[in-house]
Amino acid sequence: MSAATARIDTDALRHNLGQIRNRAPASKIMAVIKANAYGHGMVAIAQALADADSLAVARVEEGIQLREAGIACPIVVLEGICNADELGLAGQHSLETVVHCREQIILMEQNSGSGADLWLKLDTGMNRLGSTAEEFAEAHRRLVNLPSANRDPGLMSHFSSADVAESETSQEQLRKFLETTAGLPGERSLANSAGILNIPASHLEWVRPGLSLYGVSPVAGKTGQDLGLRPVMRFSTWLLATRNLVVGDTVGYGCRWQAARPTRLGIAACGYGDGYPWALPEGTPLRVKGKHAGLAGRVSMDMIAFDLGADSDARIGDEVLLWGETELPVEEIAAAAQSIPYELLCRVSERVSREIVTSQAPIG
Ligand SMILES: Cc1ncc(COP(=O)(O)O)c(C=O)c1O
Repeated sequence: MSAATARIDTDALRHNLGQIRNRAPASKIMAVIKANAYGHGMVAIAQALADADSLAVARVEEGIQLREAGIACPIVVLEGICNADELGLAGQHSLETVVHCREQIILMEQNSGSGADLWLKLDTGMNRLGSTAEEFAEAHRRLVNLPSANRDPGLMSHFSSADVAESETSQEQLRKFLETTAGLPGERSLANSAGILNIPASHLEWVRPGLSLYGVSPVAGKTGQDLGLRPVMRFSTWLLATRNLVVGDTVGYGCRWQAARPTRLGIAACGYGDGYPWALPEGTPLRVKGKHAGLAGRVSMDMIAFDLGADSDARIGDEVLLWGETELPVEEIAAAAQSIPYELLCRVSERVSREIVTSQAPIG
């Protein structure tokens, strides 16, 4: 076995779902599993999240993929539909869609709606998607009047800065959301992971956790473990080769890293082609047989090199941990890459096999 593997622990996933329920006990949970469930494998994650109240994806195709895999629970498409074909597909597959602009309302009216339930999005300051506060009541009236509407549309908005504790921007967004939706029927949803953690007043009828479900902190300077969460992904690979270096030996493209002392170098089967970021600097931590090693030289497409230390007893075939345990959280690796954990998780590439485990044992 020489390929990088992402082990996906569904017990950890369910633990995190439970932690989120404890934090927002009166709210239903719309579990966000877009972008291949943040790189974890969308269908397997959906199957393991049977206790969530609904699932959210970004695109209609993602919703169809879930239905074709036999997922029967409510699914919300966060970006909604962009043409009449998508509207038809959403209806056919019972995908609830978010309506965020006038063009979508017109499409709905021209086609008598999709037949599936709808969510109406308000822009409270993110300035990405959603009706303005001035347009909102009229947009709501038009959706309620669609002949195929089964229930009052849900009411939704999205935080821009909930990861900042005691953010005035978030308070203003919450105020605007409550004020604009006051008196309208329909369930409300505002809180993402950071909103769930930092802004209890934003929990309302539905919360929409993404990152926290996967055991990762949305708050800079904290890890998932600090928040009582367990990492779901454990990204690892195998030692492909070792070599002994003398002082002055260089490693990898551009000869950027040079041995300052005699040492043992490890080469492992993982590179930016697997989603391990090219931007990671020398010294980025890895763990080999439970011991620390530091990245040496540039990340290549299929391989990385690291300093094992002169007295290392690591052997070809040993496991190399890239991120995912409490000693090596993805939050720390993302900070080293000057990125965010969202990006690192989403970029774990297709050629990395996802091994789905529960209680540490492979399923099936
Ligand atoms: C509309 C919407 N709601 C909820 C989420 C989940 O956010 P998080 O992963 O920060 O919990 C996202 C993610 O980007 C989103 O776009």
